[in-house]
Amino acid sequence: MQRFLALLAMSALSLGVALAQETADFYRQNCMSCHTIGGGRMTGPDLKNVTERKDRAWLSRFMMDPKGMMDSGDPYASKILQEARGVQMPALPGMTRARVEALLDLITEESAKEKSAFAGVQLSDRPFTDRDVEVGHNIFVGATSLKNNGPSCISCHTVNGIGGFGGGTLGPDLTTVFERYQGRKALSIWLSAPATPTMQSVFRKEPLESEEILSLVAYFQHTLTRNPEDASTARLNFILIGLAGTLIVLGVFDVVWNKRFRAVRRPLVQERQLESNA
Ligand code: HEC
Ligand code: HEC
Repeated sequence: MQRFLALLAMSALSLGVALAQETADFYRQNCMSCHTIGGGRMTGPDLKNVTERKDRAWLSRFMMDPKGMMDSGDPYASKILQEARGVQMPALPGMTRARVEALLDLITEESAKEKSAFAGVQLSDRPFTDRDVEVGHNIFVGATSLKNNGPSCISCHTVNGIGGFGGGTLGPDLTTVFERYQGRKALSIWLSAPATPTMQSVFRKEPLESEEILSLVAYFQHTLTRNPEDASTARLNFILIGLAGTLIVLGVFDVVWNKRFRAVRRPLVQERQLESNA
C-alpha cells in the first residue's frame, strides 16, 4: 500500500512537471512574441505581477475572449487597450479554462523570480555597424561559436552567396528572413525564443545571447539588401574558387600518387633486377 502511494505521488509529481513544461511551451509559442515577464512592454504589457493589477477571474475572462471584453466597454480593458496604442490582443486557439489557469499560475510563479526565463532579450536599439554584420556572418557560418554552444546556423540553413558548400538544407533559406519576419525587432524577439518545432528544440536549452541575436539580425538585414548581382558574382566566384580548389586537390593527389607509385615500383624493380642478376 505504501509503495502504491509512493508510486501515485511520484506519477502525480511527474505529471505536474510535464504539465508545467507543457504550459511553459505554450506560453513560449503563443505569448512571448508580444509579452515579457519583467522585461518591459512590447506589443502587449509586461505581465509581471499582472495578478496584482487585476483579479484572476477578470484576467481569465479577458484571455479567453479579449475582443468580447473590449467590446463590453469595461474601463480597465479600455485603459490597457489605450496603453497598447489601440492594438488588440488576438483571441488565441486552445485557451480553455484549465489552460488559462495554468498560464496565470506560470505568470505568477515567474513574476516572483528575480529574472524570469520569459523576461525576453534586452534588445539594444543601437544602429547596426559593418562590424555587426561581420560578426553575424561569422556566427552564421560557425567561424565564431555560440556562447551557449548551440550548433551553427549553416549546418541547417543557407543564404545567397554564402560560398563554401552552400549551407544546410534542413531549414529554410534565410536570405530574406529579415523581411519575412518584419524587421529588426520582430526577428530579434523571434530568435530569442524560436517558436517552430526544430528551432525550439535546438535552442531552448542553448538560447542565443542578445549580442549574438543583434549580430545575426544585422547580418540578415545585410543579406536582404545585398545587391542580387553581388550574390551572383559571389556564386561565380564560388564556382571559380571551387574549381581552383579542385585543381589544387587534384594537383596534390597527382604528386602524392606519383610518389607512392614510384615508391612502390622502385623496390619492385630493384627486386627484379636482383633476381635477374642472381
Ligand atoms: C499579438 C500580440 C499578443 C499576443 C500573441 C498575446 N497578447 Fe496578451 N495582450 C496583448 C495586448 C496588446 C494587450 C493589452 C490589451 C489590448 O490592447 O488588447 C494584452 C493584454 C494581456 C493581459 C492583460 C494585461 C494587463 O496588464 O492587465 C494578459 C494577462 C495577457 N495579455 C496574457 C496573454 C497570454 C497569456 C498570451 C498567450 C497565451 C497573450 N497574452 C498573447 C497582446 C498580445
Ligand atoms: C539543427 C538544424 C538547425 C539549426 C542548427 C538552425 N536551424 Fe533555424 N531552422 C531549422 C528548421 C528545420 C527550421 C524550420 C522551422 C522548424 O522546424 O523549426 C528553421 C527555421 C528558422 C527560422 C525561421 C525561418 C522561416 O523562414 O520561417 C529562422 C529565422 C532560423 N531558423 C534561424 C536560425 C539561426 C539564426 C540559426 C543559428 C543561430 C539556426 N536557425 C540554426 C533548423 C535549424
